[in-house]
Parts: sequence; structure tokens; C-alpha cells
Amino acid sequence: MMKIHVLGSAAGGGFPQWNCNCRNCYGLRQGRIRAIPRTQSSIAVSSDDEHWVLFNTSPDIRAQLQAFPQIQPRNGLRDTGIGAIVYMDSQIDHTAGLLMLREGCPHEVYCTDMVHADLTGGFPVFRMLEAWNGGVNRHRIDIDPVSSFTIPGFENLRFTPVPLSSKAPPYSAHRHDPHRGDNIGIGIEDLPSGKKVFYAPGLGSIEDHLLPVMSQADCLLVDGTFWREDEMIAAGVGSQLAAAMGHLPQSGEGGMIHVLDGLRHPRKILIHINNTNPILDEDSEERRTLQRHAIEVAYDGMEITL
Ligand code: MLT
Ligand code: MN
Ligand code: ZN
Repeated sequence: MMKIHVLGSAAGGGFPQWNCNCRNCYGLRQGRIRAIPRTQSSIAVSSDDEHWVLFNTSPDIRAQLQAFPQIQPRNGLRDTGIGAIVYMDSQIDHTAGLLMLREGCPHEVYCTDMVHADLTGGFPVFRMLEAWNGGVNRHRIDIDPVSSFTIPGFENLRFTPVPLSSKAPPYSAHRHDPHRGDNIGIGIEDLPSGKKVFYAPGLGSIEDHLLPVMSQADCLLVDGTFWREDEMIAAGVGSQLAAAMGHLPQSGEGGMIHVLDGLRHPRKILIHINNTNPILDEDSEERRTLQRHAIEVAYDGMEITL
């Protein structure tokens, strides 16, 4: 048995975003659209309902943990069910929450060399946290060549990184100079049952090596950031295309809906939804389109058992 708990399902900024009056954010605040608030994306995975691997640490982590009592202390005076943390990239919305976990240092942290470079360089949280019990025990995720890994204490689970073309964060020294390992997706297999989930909150394009991984998964939790390529521009809140931000939009030729339509087996769920995305409005035409394609939209607190 593998349980996947969605701690947060929104992209950077969350939903509603604090300074945003786009149709969705304003509509949600005013109660004018049928939609639910969402915190910034992260999932927790367990095979025993007691010990959890965290995928990314969102700035909203304190509220996320509070909303998920199963991950909170039961044994010692100071305790946590978080056994390890795995990073998909070094984006602020995926990493800043580590600062909020400083009381529990040292943490067992798994990331690629590129992510490690950002988290000791442009955003040096690993270095800062050294003052708290040494901060993190860092474990390298190998991608050259890709190698699966296990995490002590989680012997039922096997983790397989999948290098993705997406983008290093805006603050990164190599935002405009992509490197292998800036972004990964991860396949998680529950060894006793053979069930697999594939998690990729930031996915810029569907490369050849990716399709077999996606088609063999039982469940996909993939990039749901934007509905359309020029969404930020059309909403008047930004100047960048989805591609420039490393996200594959849902609509259009070769978009995520098209890709997912080609896969028969897996349950299909979008995560890391940006607040501008019309699919957040449950009465929208775009949301109905997803329903017709049997594509779900993750929400905070969603639980998937495989
Ligand atoms: C992204 O994935 O592009 C981010 O959500 C942007 C951000 O965190 O501001
Ligand atoms: Mn993001
Ligand atoms: Zn907004």
C-alpha cells in the first residue's frame, strides 16, 4: 500500500495570491466563483501511514502540516512523521518551507547536484540551517546515469528520478542556461504491490524518455500550472509565456490534455495549478473539458491510495 497525501496543489503564489485581483483570485475572495483555496504544491508519501517522505517544502508548510494531523508528533516530546525530504527543483515555492522546519534539523534531504548548488548558492538555505543542528544531511540524487534509490526507513518504496526540461528558478545563476538536474520528476514504486505514481509539478515538455515512464504509472500527478501558453499575458499579470517558465499548458496541440489522452492506463491528476488557470473555477468550460478527458484537478488534502 502506498498513500499519497496532497499537502498543497497550487503553483507559486498559491490561490488566491495575496496581491492578485485576477478573475480567479478576486472571484474567490468575493465568493463570486465556485472554487477552493489552495496552498503551494507539495505531496507526502507513505507506505505505513506513519512515516512520510515529503516532496518539496512549500512556504505554506506550517499550515499544511497543521491540516494533516497524521504527520504530526505522537511519540517523543519533539517528534515528526517526516522521515525525509526530496526536492524536484530549487524553486522558492518548493523549497522555502525548509526554513520553517528548522526546529527539526537535521533533515535527511535528497536532491540533484544542480538543486544543491542553488540551495547553497543563490538561495543558501542549506548553509543557513547549518546553525540548527547541522541543518541537512544531504543525499545526492544521481542522474548521470539515472539511478533509482531507496531511503532508510522506507524499504517498501523505490524512487526513480526522471530528468526534465523545465527551468531553474528566476534567482538561479543558470535560469537562462538549463542544466540536466535543474528539474526532475520522480517515479515512486510501492515494491510489495508494484504500484507506481509519477510526480512532476514542473514539466516543460514531453521528451521521449518520459512517455514510457508516464504510460507505466498507475497514477500521474503532473504540471497543471497553465491552461494556455499566454495565460499570464492574457490575464494582464505577467509578461512570460508558459514555455519561458518551463511549464507545458493543458490546451492546444501537443498540450497536456493531448499528451494524457494518449495514455490509457494511469489515473490522471493535475497539480501545481497557477491562480490564473480557469480550471480552478469549477463551473468553467475548461474544467468541464478536463472532466470529459477524465483528468482530475488536485486539491489540498486529496488522498490517493495505490
Ligand atoms: C513556477 O513554477 O514557475 C513558479 O510557481 C513560479 C514562482 O514560484 O513564482
Ligand atoms: Mn512553481
Ligand atoms: Zn490571481
